Amino acid sequence: MLRHPGGHGRSMALLAASSVPGTQITEWSTSNATSRTPKKFNPSYHPSRMEYIPFDEIKRKEGLTWSCLKRVLPSPGLLSSLIKMSWWWSGAIGAARKKVDEHEVPLNYQSVALVVGVTGIVGNSLAEILPCSDTPGGPWKVYGVARRPRPSWNADNRMEYIQCDVSDTEEVQSKLSPLTDITHIFYVTWAPRPTEADNIEINSLMLKNVLQSVIPNAPNLQHVCLQTGIKHYFGPFEFLGKIKQHDPPFVEDVPRLSAPNFYYAQEDILFDEIKRKEGLTWSVHRPGIIFGFSPYSLANMVGTLCVYAAICKHEGTPLRFPGTRVAWEGYYNDVSDADLIAEQEIWAAVDPYGRNEAFNCSNGDVFKWKHLWKVLGEQFGVECAEFEEGLSLQEMMKDKGGVWDEIVRKNELYPTKLEEVWAWQIFDAMFSLKEPYLVSMNKSKEHGFLGFRNTVNAFVSWIDKTKAYKIVP
Ligand SMILES: NC(=O)c1ccc[n+]([C@@H]2O[C@H](COP(=O)([O-])OP(=O)(O)OC[C@H]3O[C@@H](n4cnc5c(N)ncnc54)[C@H](OP(=O)(O)O)[C@@H]3O)[C@@H](O)[C@H]2O)c1
Repeated sequence: MLRHPGGHGRSMALLAASSVPGTQITEWSTSNATSRTPKKFNPSYHPSRMEYIPFDEIKRKEGLTWSCLKRVLPSPGLLSSLIKMSWWWSGAIGAARKKVDEHEVPLNYQSVALVVGVTGIVGNSLAEILPCSDTPGGPWKVYGVARRPRPSWNADNRMEYIQCDVSDTEEVQSKLSPLTDITHIFYVTWAPRPTEADNIEINSLMLKNVLQSVIPNAPNLQHVCLQTGIKHYFGPFEFLGKIKQHDPPFVEDVPRLSAPNFYYAQEDILFDEIKRKEGLTWSVHRPGIIFGFSPYSLANMVGTLCVYAAICKHEGTPLRFPGTRVAWEGYYNDVSDADLIAEQEIWAAVDPYGRNEAFNCSNGDVFKWKHLWKVLGEQFGVECAEFEEGLSLQEMMKDKGGVWDEIVRKNELYPTKLEEVWAWQIFDAMFSLKEPYLVSMNKSKEHGFLGFRNTVNAFVSWIDKTKAYKIVP
């Protein structure tokens, strides 16, 4: 497939079909994104096709280059594996994928997904990616669950939306047990509580309710994906500094820490419930900080930083980094793109090598927050302040509710409340760490999931999307 490998989309050329006589040249994506999702608002989105350009023809135009040819002239066998692999790769470089035609409903579904938390940061990516016509395992029918009415920014995705509070056992039984055609569950939700003991109680109940309603009633159920996170390796924030953590880089198959953790409780419930149906498989996905899009997410780093930057711009103050010098200067690799996580979850759901395993999921590159900070400043036209130790986002934002209301009103933004959506304290905790949390992606790659993201490009792409949906100015 002709795509610009790893280039930043803004500078990509769109090749005209007439530039090489007698040859059809694929249109190159001009999307500026590394994400699969920006096509919805990017007018320069172009579907690409599998073709190649003969060497002889290339010579006819001075300066026309051919490095992509190396990737598209292999033997038919290798070519066919590349075609299969290309779906995972195309997400990583922001290339086009087949769009969903809202009017064309497949006659036969191959798989039926239940996405629990469908308006959340990864739920929204699953809702966009699953219904696409080239998504592995498809055509997919999608049931999406969340409590609030379906928001406008999630309304384009082809799915049956079910309003249901999964912490309410009776409601879950009545709304989810009739869905007998479910083949795959994607569990991408949670409920935060002040203590880990409370977290364990509520999050165990929610997961148990879903599994106990679906597993006995869905005869074709094949796989359950559970999304947790890298707190599996360093424990709840409540226990930071009180327990011995695992030494980074984090690898999946280490023993559990000696502290309560709702992720452990959820895994145990998953393993118990899975046993009730022969052949039913599972996967656990452990992302780091998720970069994605959802105004309903309980922890949306990009959204939070966008709001902070918009407030700085409005008040004419510089962007100040709320963290330690380690967080500012250190090398990090614990960011996980929401589309990448959705892709890994879909891969685990349909590929035999992804079954019955836990996988880390991070972008796979290395970055420094001080560089991302500069990018944030550029995206909002705000100057970045020199590093200063000891700042807190929560502290800086504590009286800004009124300012945010004014920004929303003045710019006719999608209505959000500062205190409802933006998780200042979670990100203060992330930026106060004493050492960078590095995540190993070896196990995921060794099992066959080769997806990755360029974190800087992903950051810009999600900022663009947050602006495009008028969540921030
Ligand atoms: N976000 C991150 O940066 C991050 C990083 C690492 C790990 N994780 C982990 O990933 C897992 C999933 O979190 P997430 O951040 O992807 O989710 P999220 O963005 O906070 O989304 C939560 C989703 O679940 C829905 N929901 C919440 N409570 C519900 C309930 N009782 N019944 C039905 N739906 C409910 C929400 O919509 P309604 O509110 O309308 O119901 C929303 O659609 C969690 O274990 C989390 O710890 C997250």
